[in-house]
Amino acid sequence: MAGDWHITAAESGKAPAYIELHRGLEALLSGETHLVANLANVSAALFATFGWHWVGFYLVDESTDSLVLGPFQGPVACTRLHRGKGVCAAAWEKRILVNVPDVEAFPGHVACSSLSRSEIVLPVISEGKVVAVLDIDAKDLSAFDEVDERGLEQITSMLATLWPSWK
Ligand code: SME
Repeated sequence: MAGDWHITAAESGKAPAYIELHRGLEALLSGETHLVANLANVSAALFATFGWHWVGFYLVDESTDSLVLGPFQGPVACTRLHRGKGVCAAAWEKRILVNVPDVEAFPGHVACSSLSRSEIVLPVISEGKVVAVLDIDAKDLSAFDEVDERGLEQITSMLATLWPSWK
């Protein structure tokens, strides 16, 4: 079954869950070139494995110079994010991973859900351009550590490599 290949972090611990997730995603993504289908499955796999509050993508929309909501799992979220405001925009504009232990302490944080307490955002940089950001929100403070940073970086770098072959 397509939905049964992953283990959860609660069962195995976080580091083994990332290894298994990476392996599963490599197999899953190798069989499909549709952007929406692939990003939807990456969101679902991360959401199911780690049980976070919200997992999803914002896509860089060059025509409006903003970020537009892409495939995600979790509560309804803000549709558009703009330069200069929030965690996603910071990751997009600075082209860096942004790990925020307490969203209330991040100036300009965009609160799509009042339940979010911490957040991590990683840019997907393909062929030199930021094409999307992976955004994850948790209900706990300081939910994301170095294991998450490295594990998620491996996933965004896999996406960046595959991105040019997706339509
Ligand atoms: N908190 C984000 C907005 C997106 S939601 O968390 C899904 C930000 O500050 O950019």
